[in-house]
Amino acid sequence: KQPLRLLAQTLSVGLFPGPATSLWAYTGRVGAREVGNPLLHARRGDTVEVELDNRLAEATTIHWHGLSIDEANDGSGLHPVAPGARRSYRYRVDNRAGLYWYHAHPHGRTGVQLQRGLAGLLLVEDEEERTLRQRLGMRWGERDLPLMIADKQVGADNAIVYKDGADDWIGNRVLINWTPEPYLDVIPAWYRFRLANVANARMLRVAFVQGDQVLPMQLIGTDGGLLAQAWPVDDVFLAPAQRIDVLVDFGALAPGQRVMLRSLDYVAMENEDESGAFLPDPMADHPGATPMGAALDLMELRLIDCATERRPPARLPDLSALSKIDPLPDTADWPVRALRLRMDEAGRWFINDWNFHDSGHEPAFSVRRGSREVWEIRNSMTSMPHPIHLHGFQFRVLSRSISPPDIRGRQVAPGGLTAQDLGWNDTVVVWPGEIVRLAIDFAQPLTGTHRYMLHCHNLEHEDMGMMLTFAVT
Ligand code: C2O
Ligand code: CU
Ligand code: CU
Repeated sequence: KQPLRLLAQTLSVGLFPGPATSLWAYTGRVGAREVGNPLLHARRGDTVEVELDNRLAEATTIHWHGLSIDEANDGSGLHPVAPGARRSYRYRVDNRAGLYWYHAHPHGRTGVQLQRGLAGLLLVEDEEERTLRQRLGMRWGERDLPLMIADKQVGADNAIVYKDGADDWIGNRVLINWTPEPYLDVIPAWYRFRLANVANARMLRVAFVQGDQVLPMQLIGTDGGLLAQAWPVDDVFLAPAQRIDVLVDFGALAPGQRVMLRSLDYVAMENEDESGAFLPDPMADHPGATPMGAALDLMELRLIDCATERRPPARLPDLSALSKIDPLPDTADWPVRALRLRMDEAGRWFINDWNFHDSGHEPAFSVRRGSREVWEIRNSMTSMPHPIHLHGFQFRVLSRSISPPDIRGRQVAPGGLTAQDLGWNDTVVVWPGEIVRLAIDFAQPLTGTHRYMLHCHNLEHEDMGMMLTFAVT
C-alpha cells in the first residue's frame, strides 16, 4: 500500500458569498479525488503511513491527537517539519475504535495554523464497533455522521482573521465540516453523531433543541471510544479537542419540523482577570462573535418525509453493554503527581512552575514506562476552564471535587463524575477551583525515551506556554 501523501498548503476556497477565503489545509488524493483535510479511516492494528510535504512558508507538523504512538511519530512541536521539507509518519494504530483527529502542532503557531484550517478527523474502527453499527442499522454517512465543529473570525473580505498573542480566540462564524450555516435533512428516525470540537478556544454545551424543548440524547462514547453503556443526557460540555458519540431520536417529529444543534448558554467562569489588567476588552478582536458562554446555534436539522415502509425501527437495540471497560483501578498505592493550573501576576499561564517558553523541550519530569500514576490537577479559583490534554496516553477520570454547580448538576457516579468522565479520554476540562484526579497507565510497547506534551487545548493558552514536556523512559 502506498503512503498517503498530504501537502500542507494554501488553498483558495469559496466558503462564503463574495471573495474567496484563503485556508491552510492538508490536501491529498483519496480515491480519485483531491481532498482538503480528508477524513481518514483506519482499523485497529493497521499501520498508518502518511507523508507530509510542507508547502507552507513556515514549519508545521501533523499531530495524531489521541493516538498512543512514539515520540517521533506523535507530530508535536518537538519535531517540526521545515518549509519545503517532507517527512513520513508511520505508526501502528493500537487505540480503541473511536473518533480521533489530526492537526498542526508547531510551537507558538498552533493557534494560527488551526484557525486557518490545518485539522482533520481520523476514524478508528474495530470488531466491536462493527457489531454495534450492525445492531444499530445505521450506515456511515447516512444516519451515522461526523460533525467537526469550529468557529472562525471572518473579516468583511471573507478572510480568516487571527491576531498573534491573543487570549482565547473565538469567532463570528461557525463551520461544521468546513461548511458555513450548515443544515442537514433528516428523516424521523434515530441518528448517530460523532461530534468533535476543533475550535481554538470555544467551549460548547451541545444539545439538540426543538422549539423550547431539549431532545434527550444517549451518550455512547467519548474521546477514546465507546462507553460501557449508554447514558441519557440532555446536553454535554464539549471543550476544544474533545469528542463525543451520541444517539438522538427524531422519530416523534413530523416532516417540516426543525431541530437546532445548539450550544446552550452556560456560566463561562472566566475569572482569571479580576483586575482587568490583561484583557481590557476580550471581545475587541472578535467583532460580531458570540461571547463565550452565550447560546450559539450550530446546525439546523430539517425533518423530511420518509415512506413508512422505509422507516428504520423506532426502537434502539439494548445499549446496556456497549463495551467492556474495566472498573476504575484501585489507586491507593499509586504515586500522586500534583499539577496546579494558574496565571502569574504578568498574565502568563503556568502548570506548576512550568511555562513552555521557559522550560521548552527539557522534560519537566520523567515517568517510568509501565508505571501507573495519579495526576491530581487543580485549577485556581481566579482562572478559567482549561481543557487539559495529554499526548500518548488515554486516561480515566478518578474523581472531581470542588466542582462548579454546572458540573455538580451532571454528576452520575461516585467521585463527582459526569457521564463523559466514565469512558477513556485524552482531554479533560478542569474548571476554576476544581480538582480533577486522573489514573494514567504508562504501559507502552516501546523502548528508549519518548517525550510527550501535556498542555491546555485552548490553543492560545498552549501557544502562550501553558504546556510542558514530560518523558517516558
Ligand atoms: Cu490536539 Cu497537543 O494536541
Ligand atoms: Cu494530542
Ligand atoms: Cu487554558
